[in-house]
Amino acid sequence: MLKAVILIGGPQKGTRFRPLSFEVPKPLFPVAGVPMLQHHIEACAKVPGMKEIILIGFYQPNDALSRYLSSAQQEFKILVRYLQEFAPLGTGGGLYHFRDQILSGGPSAFFLMNADVCSEFPLLEMLRFHRDHGDVHCAVVLATTANRKQSLNYGCIVESQKTHEVLHFVEKPATFVSDIINCGIYLFTPEIFTHIGMVFQRNQEEKQLPLPTPREDQLWSRQRAEVIHLEQDVFTSLAGQQQLYVYKTQGFWSQIKSAGSAIYASRLYLNQYLQTHPERLVSSQEGGCTVNGNVFIHPTALIDPTAVVSVLLGPNVSIGKGVCIGAGVRVRESIILHGASLQDHCCVLNSIVGWDSTIGKWARVEGTPSDPNPNDPFAKINSETLFRDGGLTPSITILGCNVNIPSEVIIRNSIVLPHKDLSRSFKNQIIL
Ligand code: GDD
Repeated sequence: MLKAVILIGGPQKGTRFRPLSFEVPKPLFPVAGVPMLQHHIEACAKVPGMKEIILIGFYQPNDALSRYLSSAQQEFKILVRYLQEFAPLGTGGGLYHFRDQILSGGPSAFFLMNADVCSEFPLLEMLRFHRDHGDVHCAVVLATTANRKQSLNYGCIVESQKTHEVLHFVEKPATFVSDIINCGIYLFTPEIFTHIGMVFQRNQEEKQLPLPTPREDQLWSRQRAEVIHLEQDVFTSLAGQQQLYVYKTQGFWSQIKSAGSAIYASRLYLNQYLQTHPERLVSSQEGGCTVNGNVFIHPTALIDPTAVVSVLLGPNVSIGKGVCIGAGVRVRESIILHGASLQDHCCVLNSIVGWDSTIGKWARVEGTPSDPNPNDPFAKINSETLFRDGGLTPSITILGCNVNIPSEVIIRNSIVLPHKDLSRSFKNQIIL
């Protein structure tokens, strides 16, 4: 029997995802037409013996999350539930806090996944690797390769080339350690809790304030003892102990940190649909809509059936629920969120159009992301960042919820906060 745990973080996380995370918890943001989390859940549901998926985070339970969980439960015929941490406990603290729920029913192993990654999720391959390596160790880490500069933003792994044991693990090193990076997807046996437990004990001894102290301080100190970072606190010391192994995937993988990287992740998942969900991709429709490359259109979206000038969609476009698209509209490399309206002849490129926003006739909304270097074999993890070269110029355009763009203006490389009525063109701006 197997289980899976997904770390979904909470409202203080996902700040790079603003203004879109104002409206929905980031894990529910649609990527390739379905909530980011659904890609994880679908992959878990395909694993034989998978009995339960547990989400751990510090969001207050809310309607959107509960609605999504019950619909996922029905659709995938698997138990999916949310456990809320009383405070952000780090990547290992919540896991340890809820260990009894995770271990109930006696799973032989469980997957742990960061919600903010986009992957092919080679879970069956990880299981096979685990069994082929004698399944006595307590963790398998999924990894991919990065170039030297990129690797500094991830957990870096030095492996034994012969056995694939993790010999060293360094989280976001200051200087180059290895080009093998942690994908934030793991397979653990219950034994992992012994090692997290040791960190917990050590934290308690180190962090307990001497008595007497004001009650609040005691609470805070107890809370701090529960904060555990799997990467720094557990993996670093497990490396070299024949407990931690690495499985390297050739499949696609990327982080979803900024809104820009959601467009990149959408491209990866839409491409995967060619094999896994061809029914989610549309093709050109007679009399009105020309589709180029991979495009998802929600069945409730309305494309002007009387359009004399064809609508041109794709590549890499997702159109959400109830979106209205007028004649002659052009959309490329973009996500259009539900209820938005794209009026006749407007053009949307490299952008995210927020819920219920309107783009007027002949208006142009566009971003200009830096092109990945075609000679860079690691471009696959080179997810778009929101700002160019760490500067202040947005590289894609994002319209928050309920933004109105008048006819015939151009909005380029800008972020527009929710509920704005713009009256002119803007370029390279954050419109508050
Ligand atoms: N429940 C819960 N509680 N989840 C959390 C918490 C917490 O206190 N803190 C972070 N998370 C979740 C985030 O929502 C995210 O899904 C995941 O844990 C990792 O988040 P970060 O702490 O922001 O780490 P990171 O993404 O910079 O780096 C991690 O992931 C990389 C791969 O994407 C590390 O594991 C790296 O080693 C790894 O390379």
